Amino acid sequence: MGNIFPRWINLLPIKLIICLGALATVIAGLTWYVATPKFTRVGYAPQQPIPFDHSLHAGQLKMDCRYCHTFVEDSPHSNIPAAQTCWNCHGPGKVKADSPALEPLRQAMDTDNENYTGDPIRWVQIHETPDYAYFNHAAHVNRGVSCVECHGKVNEMSVVYHAKNLSMGFCLDCHRNVDEHLRPLDQITNLDWEAEDENVGEFYARIASKSGKSEAELMEADGIGEGDSLTQKIVGKHLQGLWNVHPPQDCASCHR
Ligand code: HEC
Ligand code: HEC
Ligand code: HEC
Ligand code: HEC
Ligand code: HEC
Repeated sequence: MGNIFPRWINLLPIKLIICLGALATVIAGLTWYVATPKFTRVGYAPQQPIPFDHSLHAGQLKMDCRYCHTFVEDSPHSNIPAAQTCWNCHGPGKVKADSPALEPLRQAMDTDNENYTGDPIRWVQIHETPDYAYFNHAAHVNRGVSCVECHGKVNEMSVVYHAKNLSMGFCLDCHRNVDEHLRPLDQITNLDWEAEDENVGEFYARIASKSGKSEAELMEADGIGEGDSLTQKIVGKHLQGLWNVHPPQDCASCHR
């Protein structure tokens, strides 16, 4: 008796398996792609134990970032301030000492508080690099890279959120075009700084004193005349040369 099914039927299960397999792979791939932190974490703004407002403290009150993030220039890690830092201003008899929003602070610091625990405030961490990638704050902040490059305008945020994706591509974009991102060291925590704000005379005087060329020569080479303002490219180019900045692009520098 001959086969009642045509020959091509025998191949059907294989084709089906291949098609379904391919479909599953695409779905899994898409899910992974979309669910990977770098695509979901932009905008991440978890609820904090105290509604701490950067736009008030760092913006309106003009407190320097380093008043609270004290280690950012000296250590790989940028710390969150201890409750004592807040207590300096919000302790008994001081600013808004009885504010309900500051109850977790009183529980951490005020031994007279009936709910006193002495435990640190449990801030939720927002930015985090995966363990397999190495990142160092001091190496950036002391080489003319401002907080704003990686965290956005925190001084305008009433609630801090993840403003940039901080993916590998993001890191490398700057490492490859670093002159577009460098600024004078005294402007690192001034998140509103623009190259146009720099005083042209003072800037060239500073570069000239370290480069062996005259101010006039440098200005002419840059095409900068009397009354012109500086651009990011010009400022970045000179600072890169002055500090000999060469951000690494090899895998082992970031994946140690
Ligand atoms: C008065 C203290 C204080 C000052 C000043 C301050 N911060 Fe903060 N910062 C905090 C506290 C507290 C948190 C944790 C709560 C939160 O996320 O809002 C924080 C969180 C952050 C985070 C998110 C940390 C994470 O978990 O990933 C960034 C980024 C940040 N600050 C940047 C800045 C920058 C940039 C400045 C200067 C423009 C600044 N801060 C000024 C106290 C301060
Ligand atoms: C240098 C002084 C200073 C420091 C340090 C400081 N603050 Fe403040 N904070 C203020 C001032 C000033 C206000 C505004 C008070 C007002 O609205 O009259 C304020 C307001 C607040 C408010 C709003 C309170 C309300 O009920 O309106 C909160 C919450 C707060 N701060 C949390 C913190 C936390 C958390 C820290 C530590 C990470 C901190 N502050 C550190 C000066 C400070
Ligand atoms: C070149 C990019 C870059 C710059 C510049 C930068 N940061 Fe960060 N920041 C990061 C990354 C990446 C993380 C996550 C680090 C980690 O997982 O250890 C982070 C984390 C933080 C945290 C959270 C630390 C924690 O453990 O909760 C704070 C606070 C912070 N940065 C503040 C600052 C301040 C203030 C400045 C400027 C003085 C600054 N950063 C400049 C990239 C940067
Ligand atoms: C806006 C520019 C910028 C961004 C964004 C940036 N970097 Fe850098 N990076 C620099 C500069 C500038 C240096 C200093 C190079 C030098 O000193 O020659 C540097 C140096 C480094 C170094 C070598 C110094 C060290 O710590 O050993 C590492 C590693 C590094 N960056 C990792 C990262 C990672 C990871 C990210 C992303 C989370 C990142 N960078 C994002 C500008 C940047
Ligand atoms: C400037 C720093 C830097 C350099 C150089 C670098 N990486 Fe990465 N890489 C990172 C960071 C940061 C992450 C984590 C990205 C994230 O959190 O989304 C990462 C993630 C990865 C991942 C995980 C997949 C992904 O894209 O998230 C792989 C794989 C990887 N890197 C391989 C490499 C290889 C291979 C090289 C050399 C050709 C390299 N990296 C060079 C910083 C770097």
